[in-house]
Amino acid sequence: MSARIVTLPGDGIGPEIMAVAVAALDRLGDFSYEEHVFGGAAIDAHGTALTEETLEACRGADAVLLAAVGGPKWDTTDPDAPRPEQGLLGLRKGMGLYANLRPVRPLPALYDASPLREERIRDTNLLVVRELTGGIYFGDRARRDGRAHDTCEYSTAEIERIAHVAFAAAESKVTSVDKANVLETSRLWRETVSRLHSEHYPHVELEHMLVDNAAMQLVAAPRHFDVIVTENMFGDILSDEAAMLTGSIGMLPSASLGDPGAPGLFEPVHGSAPDIAGTGKANPMAMLLSAAMMLRHGLGRQEEAAALESAVERALRDGLRTADLGGDASTERAGRTILDNL
Ligand code: IPM
Ligand code: MG
Repeated sequence: MSARIVTLPGDGIGPEIMAVAVAALDRLGDFSYEEHVFGGAAIDAHGTALTEETLEACRGADAVLLAAVGGPKWDTTDPDAPRPEQGLLGLRKGMGLYANLRPVRPLPALYDASPLREERIRDTNLLVVRELTGGIYFGDRARRDGRAHDTCEYSTAEIERIAHVAFAAAESKVTSVDKANVLETSRLWRETVSRLHSEHYPHVELEHMLVDNAAMQLVAAPRHFDVIVTENMFGDILSDEAAMLTGSIGMLPSASLGDPGAPGLFEPVHGSAPDIAGTGKANPMAMLLSAAMMLRHGLGRQEEAAALESAVERALRDGLRTADLGGDASTERAGRTILDNL
């Protein structure tokens, strides 16, 4: 039976880059797609960023491929207005996707596109493992009488399950990033990761690093890292920073996974880029690399995943550069070049 993929093109450049990904997947196998409106588009159509029907479809799929959500049309600070991002957070929580994997591996062909010097980024190969369904993103929040609060909370069990993912993914070392000199959640985080390490993964090197120092080390010595494991908001911030090692956030894919057997969600790290939506300038490569992560982690198709990744790499080696990488290739030309390589 062909794998059933729910596609969520979302907003802004989302539909443009999703079309490229679906075309590439069609070259690689026999997949069936079910498309749903999501994010701002779903707010316009249904008054909510994530309908119950879409969530159910995602839960029942073999994998979910998402492009991007958000845009100025739905930007508001009104706490009662629906926001596109609520769809994303609702999907992560509703599908139990607690482990977000964001690999950062600058390609030699793009060394010149990074703001960092080549000798600094060369041979970097790191993975950010971001906890995705806890912390300040999901704690109690409110605003009253000119004050507001957001609560950061973690349980031992939530920390253990993400730490397992990190240790299992590590080749040599896990760097656990926290703010244990200030935050109680970070002290529980550090204690839990250390215990899990000595009980189950003594053969993997473990180091603890404070998040401010980690932000500095990521640009000062990125080769230092193998797997970085961290809580939800630190992971959000550090993964955008790490993206610049690859030259552009338009290159970074991600996988969000839950318990084994449950469908995963695959999406580029970048947003919906409303400023370039409709201009044909969007870089589809993070979307394509996310489809490759879906093939590998979500559908168990290693060969097709590798084929898609090398088609992207070869296009870059041959000089393909979209606007974000300092070139002038359109979304369409980038897609066609990569598809031709498949
Ligand atoms: C990401 C994004 C989201 C996040 C936003 C759109 C809610 O920045 O996936 O990194 O903060 O998690
Ligand atoms: Mg982010």
